[in-house]
Amino acid sequence: MCLVSGSKGGTGKSVLSAALSYTLAQRFGPTLLVDLGGGDSSLIALGAVPAQPSLDDVLKGKADPQSLFRESNLTSGLLVAPSRSPLTDGFHPEKLEEVLRVAKTKADYVVLDFPAYTHGPLDYLLERADDILMVATPTRLALERLRSWMETRAASLDTAKLTGILNMYVTTMGSWKRALLSMVEKAEVVYFDVALWFTHTRNIAEAMICCEKPTREKVTELAAKLSS
Ligand SMILES: Nc1ncnc2c1ncn2[C@@H]1O[C@H](COP(=O)(O)OP(=O)(O)OP(=O)(O)O)[C@@H](O)[C@H]1O
Ligand SMILES: [Mg+2]
Repeated sequence: MCLVSGSKGGTGKSVLSAALSYTLAQRFGPTLLVDLGGGDSSLIALGAVPAQPSLDDVLKGKADPQSLFRESNLTSGLLVAPSRSPLTDGFHPEKLEEVLRVAKTKADYVVLDFPAYTHGPLDYLLERADDILMVATPTRLALERLRSWMETRAASLDTAKLTGILNMYVTTMGSWKRALLSMVEKAEVVYFDVALWFTHTRNIAEAMICCEKPTREKVTELAAKLSS
């Protein structure tokens, strides 16, 4: 189970979660994307499949966990658990636990798209995740937020599970990777090109076909690491 998060909004967590889930499903085995961020990753990964019932309904006891996992029509082996709003402190841990238990029976790989905030079930999920990907953009603000996020979690965070992902606007920004590596043991750079802005594409399947080869290769390399 891989948790994708970050210490700042809009850094590319949902795009990376969807791209990784899509690639894992295509190349490595049945994969479930759980959208905990309010709908963005499920919107781009579900295709034309309805987004209801959502995680919100399940956590409020209005829908059965089994009904949450929808087969995406973008590729075989990709299941998506959509959500409408981010989880807040009011969540019921036992309901989430049930969702995760069912999730693990449905797929070999589970990717959790989690928003940037630090409350709600973050610590609960950090403990249970096998891998934690923290997505940051090449800005001082994003890296400073990441530093303070790590400081506040120093006692509970297993840093061996953590990989810092730098979502680069352009490929020629190598000094930012060095800055990130001064904070985390493992860092990767993903270049999100125009297809992943979703300006000319509608969903993650089209985006992964249209994106540049190095982007696709990097996402595949990351997926391979998660699957091993
Ligand atoms: N490197 C990039 N360059 C330009 N646009 C990008 C890049 N990465 C992501 N985007 C675009 O930026 C927007 C935000 O990306 P995304 O929704 O994945 O971020 P997020 O971290 O999940 O945001 P949130 O904190 O709101 O959940 C999207 O429209 C996405 O297509
Ligand atoms: Mg998001």
